[in-house]
Amino acid sequence: MSLKAKIIGVGLAAPEKILTNKDLEKIVETSDEWIKSRTGMSERHIADEKTATSDLATAAALKAIEMAKIAPEEIDLIITGTVTPDMPFPSAACFVQNNIKAVKAAAFDLSAACSGFIYGLSLSKGMIASGDARTILVIGADCLSKITDWTDRNTCVLFGDGAGAAVLQATSEDAGVLSTYTYSDASKTHLLQVPAGGSRVPFSKEVLENRTNFIKMEGNEVFKNAVKGMERAIDAALHKAGLKYEDVSLVIPHQANIRIIESIAKRMKLPPEKVFINLDKYGNTSAASIPIAMTEAYAAGRLKKGDILVITAFGAGLTMGAAVIKWGI
Ligand code: ACO
Repeated sequence: MSLKAKIIGVGLAAPEKILTNKDLEKIVETSDEWIKSRTGMSERHIADEKTATSDLATAAALKAIEMAKIAPEEIDLIITGTVTPDMPFPSAACFVQNNIKAVKAAAFDLSAACSGFIYGLSLSKGMIASGDARTILVIGADCLSKITDWTDRNTCVLFGDGAGAAVLQATSEDAGVLSTYTYSDASKTHLLQVPAGGSRVPFSKEVLENRTNFIKMEGNEVFKNAVKGMERAIDAALHKAGLKYEDVSLVIPHQANIRIIESIAKRMKLPPEKVFINLDKYGNTSAASIPIAMTEAYAAGRLKKGDILVITAFGAGLTMGAAVIKWGI
């Protein structure tokens, strides 16, 4: 029997500063009522000038390691899903490695936008099953506030900063990641991107003047694709695991918009207690969204040993994915 990747510790970190919808009313032409009714969000955490993605990732990782009761030297691999690394290189994962003294690990970042944590989990499942790694730290961390155009009301009300982490360890128990499904639809790269600041359009005076170094998004189109993509991913991951909607104890969807989540819940005929939602407090934290929610769900007693958890996400790319996990702690 091949080894399973079991989650043995989770943790989260969010910056202290909170930006409310009322605060946003002072920055762009918007209203608390519009934001709440169109997105479900009330407030989000925003990193200060000194805080980078790896700082939040480190804080979340330390909590996950403490809960897992492992020594940092046991970690074989650190994967950080992020689109806002501290700098183009080295990776945020390398900064985390140094901070937590995981001296035996390999470390790299994974760029799959909001799906980064699930893509990382998918990779880890394979690495553990093959015996290439025993203990893996998967982090989702982003500071989207740093690449947000604070004059664009279409995007700036949506995002928050944060990090979530999970320690996965090889087990022969009947617990862990049962299946994953990942997929990308690259015909839609134009729907959500940061057009400049990379090798296509490097930084220049013109870039700064045109504000093309910030997030540009066709929200409506992303919305439609998100619903379809996450439904497809959930169905595929459950099929791989040989499970049905009725078997699911809890769904943690990417926290991007309450209306997207409600649409998925309706299709799966899930009662409210089987869907975890915390976007009202955090906004969309990109790759951090799912591990933050997972940490809060466990702390709130909504995830118990033996539960079947489904996580699903979508993001720029467009990337999408889902995982089915038999909770083992
Ligand atoms: N306050 C007030 N009005 C606003 C705001 C705002 N903050 N933002 C947009 N509007 C206006 C628009 O200008 C538009 O006005 P108009 O009709 O006069 O042109 C109107 O509201 C409706 O705009 P829509 O885009 O149709 O609004 P929609 O109902 O689609 O909601 C939203 C917009 C919230 C962005 C939604 O489409 C959405 O959540 N999409 C998914 C986005 C997402 O999840 N992106 C993250 C992907 S993850 C990643 O990889 C980072």
